[in-house]
Amino acid sequence: MPGPQKRIESLTRELQQHNRLYYVENQPVISDREFDRLLSELAQLEKNHPQFKLPDSPTEKVGGQPIAGFTQVRHRLPMLSIDNSYSSEDLKEFDHRVRKILGQEPVTYVVELKIDGVAISLVYENGFLKAGVTRGDGETGDDVTHNLRTVGGVPLKLDTPRPPALFEARGEVFMMRDDFARLNEQRKKEELDPFANPRNSAAGSLKLLDPKLCAARKLRLFTYATGAVEGLTLATQVNLLDTLKKFGFPVNPHVKHLASIEEVITYCDSWADQRSSLPFETDGLVIKVNDLGQREKLGMTSKSPRWIVAYKFAAEQGLTRLVDIQLQIGRQGTLTPVAYLEPVRLAGSTVSRASLHNSDYLKEKDIRVGDMVVVEKAGEIIPYVVRSEPGLRTGKETVFEFPAHCPECGAPVKKDANGAFYRCTGSDCGGQLRKKLRAFAARNAMDIEGLGEETVNLLVEAGLVESIEDLYYLTMEQVVELERMGKTSSQNLLDGIAASKARGMTRLLTGLGIRHVGETVADVLARKFLSMAALGAAAETELARVEGIGPERATTIREWFALVKNQELLERLQAAEVRMTETPVAGKKAAAFEGKTVVVTGSLKNYGREEIEKRLRDLGAKAAGSVSKKTDYLLAGEKAGSKLDKAKELGVKILSEEEFEKLAGG
Ligand code: IVH
Repeated sequence: MPGPQKRIESLTRELQQHNRLYYVENQPVISDREFDRLLSELAQLEKNHPQFKLPDSPTEKVGGQPIAGFTQVRHRLPMLSIDNSYSSEDLKEFDHRVRKILGQEPVTYVVELKIDGVAISLVYENGFLKAGVTRGDGETGDDVTHNLRTVGGVPLKLDTPRPPALFEARGEVFMMRDDFARLNEQRKKEELDPFANPRNSAAGSLKLLDPKLCAARKLRLFTYATGAVEGLTLATQVNLLDTLKKFGFPVNPHVKHLASIEEVITYCDSWADQRSSLPFETDGLVIKVNDLGQREKLGMTSKSPRWIVAYKFAAEQGLTRLVDIQLQIGRQGTLTPVAYLEPVRLAGSTVSRASLHNSDYLKEKDIRVGDMVVVEKAGEIIPYVVRSEPGLRTGKETVFEFPAHCPECGAPVKKDANGAFYRCTGSDCGGQLRKKLRAFAARNAMDIEGLGEETVNLLVEAGLVESIEDLYYLTMEQVVELERMGKTSSQNLLDGIAASKARGMTRLLTGLGIRHVGETVADVLARKFLSMAALGAAAETELARVEGIGPERATTIREWFALVKNQELLERLQAAEVRMTETPVAGKKAAAFEGKTVVVTGSLKNYGREEIEKRLRDLGAKAAGSVSKKTDYLLAGEKAGSKLDKAKELGVKILSEEEFEKLAGG
């Protein structure tokens, strides 16, 4: 075994190499899991032997201490904006202007993708990252070094034995489409507003005070320019990009060095359809004069350099007629207006429906049935109606009125307290019912095998199921009568329904679709009250006092139990022998944790975040988010950071994962 210093050094280099292969070469050779394993080995060694830790250690990239606020930094050279062009004519004109100034000199162009992210500047002094700053207004930006250090591909140190005294790299911080989608999924689960697009989400992430939160957002970097540089001369853009790459910066591989504007135009055209297949978003291409000496001669106009132009892709927008507005009914009865459109091609697919959000949106934008409307793909995923074109109206357009009665069930429609949403108040609305049944049968709820979307529709259409509990009273004779339901699938469905009876109170609560009661809340309630009867009998104040429930949820829960139809639903479920209780976990409770407040930090070997929280609840403990004097234990996993320091400072008892298991009784 090598000594710790040697091992720290070799792990540092090895992990840096993997980072480079991943972010710069786009050719990882080990799995993420293996990378994480090596990283935690390094973190552990650094913790035990802090004197050997290297300043550019990859462990630095998980994020240090939160900052108190942002400071403004003046850029050494302004971060300029670029002129836009939209057509081949515009590009020819650009070429013309360039040649007029340069005369007979041969000109070549470099074409790059225009990454749709957040422009940033990274300043390296003697090879070490000193500052990372947003573009801001071009003259001054926010110091976001704490966050930029965590961004995938940002080198903490230039990968060169003799770094220039000063090197400023400029580029774009962005988010991969799938990381963005995952982030929004997560936010939805946590009932947080989703980000509108990857760029907003990248910008928002850089403005976080806590770099660990920023690290979790999985931001990425592409560099494409330099700012202030001392001790190094670059001759061309090709040379500049090579240098960036050599220093360890990610450079987008789609770079083309072309000899004429005609070739540039052909190349730009080739991207129009291709760009939607990229794993990140672009809003055009950037065309740059290759020779940096020529750039000097070209200089700039009042607002932007003459040597560069952006070629904006035809917006992913389409003009089409809005033929109809229909209402979609959510599980809680929310009526969402959906636009039905004359089909239009957008970013490689045909769009015939688009979201209109809610009634306020319709009113504000004055969108009418029959209008010509501009449709756009937001983040190129969900199409929505951007605006109507009132100038194209014929007079036949009609203003959409929300109906007074639900189109599905005829029950009165009511406006929400905050005004933007209309809700169907019907208790047996078909649209709501289908959604409710699917949620009830879902994997995280009653997990009813054989009860998919299609079967739900069949059961509702045939009038066999008018409320959740009807499921438990279905007979073989009724089910085989349904279209496409043979004997075997009918039996499977009935078996699936029967099997779900034993799932218990947590899953039942999850499946009932009480507003604001998802999986986690259901779990908390079931543990606390142990039976639906006890929960139903609990007073609002009692509910509000339960950790994690609060007054708003307490009200909706009370309201749900107060409705006669829900009481009947529970009675009929009970009569069908659906389990309405949760087994107390008392047997498993460990005296050491009963009633204690525990904060978890760092990553644990045997638990994910939700798993450990559940385990703690099982043990009778309360999982809290931050360390305070009231904290009984800090459970510290790998890469524990500021919370560990705080706990030490306050003298809170710190447990390793192993110690925790021992105390918890294995
Ligand atoms: S070069 C003089 N290259 O587009 C400006 N910019 O609309 C030099 N951008 O602020 C910038 N991809 O944030 C350059 N390959 C690329 C780019 C790029 C995206 C951004 C950059 C700039 C904005 C201008």
